[in-house]
Amino acid sequence: MLKFREPPAQEPLSGRRFARFHRWPAIVAFLLVAGAGFDTQAQSGVLTATQPTAAIASANALATNAGFEVLNKGGNAVDAAVAVATTLSVVQPEASGMGGGFLALIHDAATGKDTFIDAREMAPAAVNSADYANADGSPNRDHSVNGPLAAGIPGYPAGLAYMVEKYGKLPLSVSVAPAIRIAENGFHPTESLVRSIQQVGDVLRRYPASKAKFFPGGKAPQTTDLFRDKAQARTLKAFAAKGAKGFYAGPVAEEMVAAVKAAGGTWTMADLAAYEARERTPIELNYAGYKVITAPPVSSGGVAIAEMLNILAGIDLKDMGEVQRMHYVIEAMRRAFRDHNEYLGDPDFVKMPLDMLLSPYYADGLRQSILPDRATKSSWLPAAHAKEPGMHTMHFSIIDQHGNMVSMTCTVNTTLGSKFVAGKSGILLNDEMDDFALVAGKPNAFGLIGGSANAPVAHKRMLSSMSPSLVIGKDRLLVIGSPGGSTIITQVLEGILGFVDGKSASEITAQKRYHHQYLPDRVDLERNAFSADVIDGLRAMGYEINDQRSWGNMNVVTWDTTTGVKAAASDPRNPAGLGKVETIH
Ligand code: GLY
Repeated sequence: MLKFREPPAQEPLSGRRFARFHRWPAIVAFLLVAGAGFDTQAQSGVLTATQPTAAIASANALATNAGFEVLNKGGNAVDAAVAVATTLSVVQPEASGMGGGFLALIHDAATGKDTFIDAREMAPAAVNSADYANADGSPNRDHSVNGPLAAGIPGYPAGLAYMVEKYGKLPLSVSVAPAIRIAENGFHPTESLVRSIQQVGDVLRRYPASKAKFFPGGKAPQTTDLFRDKAQARTLKAFAAKGAKGFYAGPVAEEMVAAVKAAGGTWTMADLAAYEARERTPIELNYAGYKVITAPPVSSGGVAIAEMLNILAGIDLKDMGEVQRMHYVIEAMRRAFRDHNEYLGDPDFVKMPLDMLLSPYYADGLRQSILPDRATKSSWLPAAHAKEPGMHTMHFSIIDQHGNMVSMTCTVNTTLGSKFVAGKSGILLNDEMDDFALVAGKPNAFGLIGGSANAPVAHKRMLSSMSPSLVIGKDRLLVIGSPGGSTIITQVLEGILGFVDGKSASEITAQKRYHHQYLPDRVDLERNAFSADVIDGLRAMGYEINDQRSWGNMNVVTWDTTTGVKAAASDPRNPAGLGKVETIH
């Protein structure tokens, strides 16, 4: 058994120590590749292997398989991520795609380095808040979630091209090949895609290219139909051949800009040419002997997760009863959410008090304000703004045969994004402009009342809740993330707490979920998940309870470096997801 040095509980690990700490798992993986038999065990939506070499969990089996196809061609976790992400663009457009954006954490096994890719969309130069307000000053929700005014300049293609150039091993043409093949040959749409097209069909029908894509032959597709996307296949080919230039310049860009302008949007060729993915330093902290690596701004999620874990670090949750434990976790959520919308925005535009928010001493003060036996009212805390969740996003997690890891959360925002396909490009555009605080003092479609830190400005990125994260212990690792708007943050927190408690990948994805986000001052509980005793216990402490919430599409992978077991688990709430572990040939 390999021995690792346990990091001290609150002392940050230096880059050098961390690299040493991390080289070992790569050696373990190598021995396994050279080593041995393969033994899989199917559970509900989960496969584990006693001697696997790579693990991928995504929300769609075709996307997961695309990742393995590319690993088998000699790619690493980054190449596999490109294959998964581009395939999701084809098979799961309701949640993410080339017309959207993503945030990703990458762990390089050879150097132990962790880095963060910000491929968040940005506002076009001509962004104008007045476009998102009615004459009486009320928010114009149609403009912020439907059609081309709703769409930020996509970051997805630039982010993928950047990642692969800097950290991948294979040319884009290899990693994008599975997505092109699936788009050309066709696939059976999932129930989620069929349902999504039905849900927003009226808006899709407004735009000719959306109608052509999502109602082939004039009919909404069924799960038994073969669904093709030849227009997107052509755009993916241009991307595969020319990288970011194949999307942000030339015929694809010209087609998108012309379609956006013809339908009332403001995009220009200069906006597309100006888009760049950003590489940023992740947030790191220690919690219960584990190193947690998570998303920095423009995500609000990583700061909130760090703040919540810092608060909880001073509380012994392990042997507490369920109600008491939930009470402390909910109070940590309340305090972190009070801060997160107040201060955070695009780091290229906004100065943020990150030192304060991430400080254990700041968390000490917040912890002391928690009453042991009753809920704090949000109104007792200094006033701040509230945020409600977005609807549709996607997360996938990868550990390759060398121990490289990618944790990537992708989005087009609400179901099928802006519902606007940009002409013959076949690209469905996001409605991410709605994640800005578009109309000062007015809530957006999900209840966001904007702070100035997240006001729309030319070429600024809108705040995101996406929180791709890694958790690294002396002999166990977790790659985790989730869709779910602001509940992404609390789902990832609960997943990290479950992992620290020793839960497996499948147990983490199956955990019952609860959420508090400061305002509304209410605890959301997963429908039919909690006992009457728990609900009554929380009510007795003064909590308002909504026990009718449903959510979940988490995808995690874990690695036990002592036993060599990698496990991949897709959320049991999502029938299309299938985590997989595989040998690499
Ligand atoms: N559009 C969802 C998010 O980025 O938080």
